[in-house]
Amino acid sequence: MSILVLGGTAEARELAGLLVAAGVPLVTSLAGDVAEPRRPAGAVRIGGFGGADGLAAHLRTHDTTAVVDATHPFAERITANAAAACAATGVALLRLSRPGWAGRPEAAGWQWVDGLDGARRAAERLGARVFLAIGRQGLAAFAGWTDRYVLVRVVDAPEVDVPGSWEVLRARGPFSFEAECDLLRSRSIDVLVTKDSGGPTEAKLDAAAHLGVPVVAVRRPPVPSGVPVVTTVAEAFAWAAAR
Ligand SMILES: NC(=O)c1ccc[n+]([C@@H]2O[C@H](COP(=O)([O-])OP(=O)(O)OC[C@H]3O[C@@H](n4cnc5c(N)ncnc54)[C@H](OP(=O)(O)O)[C@@H]3O)[C@@H](O)[C@H]2O)c1
Repeated sequence: MSILVLGGTAEARELAGLLVAAGVPLVTSLAGDVAEPRRPAGAVRIGGFGGADGLAAHLRTHDTTAVVDATHPFAERITANAAAACAATGVALLRLSRPGWAGRPEAAGWQWVDGLDGARRAAERLGARVFLAIGRQGLAAFAGWTDRYVLVRVVDAPEVDVPGSWEVLRARGPFSFEAECDLLRSRSIDVLVTKDSGGPTEAKLDAAAHLGVPVVAVRRPPVPSGVPVVTTVAEAFAWAAAR
C-alpha cells in the first residue's frame, strides 16, 4: 500500500522528502515531459497513465491508499483525471496547490485575464517588447506575434517553431531579483506575461514592480468540485501520513 503523489513541482519533491523521512511508502509520478527532471526522494514512476481510465486502472492495480495531486496549478488535465479516477475507485484525493500571487500588494494593478488568448489581447494593448514567462506550453497562442521582440524562458526547447524575432532563453529557476532586473532592463521589456503559478519564481514580479513594467496575469483554472484543497506541504504531509 502506498501514497501516489502526482508531481512535477517543488512542493511535490518537498512532500516526498517528508514522507520518505517519516517512513510512509509513496510513489511520485512525473509526466516525463522534462528531459532531466529534478527527482524527488523515494520511488518514482514516469509517464502518462492514459487518461482518467488509465489512472483509475493504475490505482486499482498498485494498491494505492490515497492520492496527493501536487501538480502545477495550471496542469489542468491531470488534475481533472485525478478527480475522475479517484471518484471512480473510491481512493481518497487531496489537491496541494500553493498560494497564487494575487495577494501581492501590486497585484491589484495587474491585468488579470482568463486563458492565453486573453493574455495575448491584454499584452498587445500594453507594449511591444514582451517577456512571455509562461513556460514552453501554450506558446502557440502567441505564434501570430511575428512582428515583435518576445523573450521566452524555458527549461527545455519549445516544441513549436518560434518566430525569428523571438529570443528563447534556456534556464531553470528560481532566479534572483538582481538577475531578473538585469534581464528586463537588457531586453527593454515593456510588458511581462505570467501565469498565476505562485511558488519560488516570483523574483520576476519583484523586478517588474521595481522597474514599473506592467504585468498580465493569467488566472488559475478552477479545482474540480468536491476535491479538498490545501496550500502547504505541511498540511498535505499530515493528510497523507494519517492514511
Ligand atoms: N502547466 C504548467 O505550467 C507546468 C509548470 C511546471 C510544471 N508542470 C508539471 O509538468 C507536468 C505536466 O504538466 P501539464 O500542464 O502538461 O499537465 P496536463 O496538461 O494537466 O497533463 C497532460 C497529460 O500529461 C500527463 N501527466 C501530467 N502530469 C503528470 C504526472 N505528474 N504524472 C503522470 N502523468 C502526468 C497526463 O497524461 P495521461 O492522460 O496519459 O495520464 C496528462 O493527461 C505536471 O506534472 C506538472 O506538475 C506544469
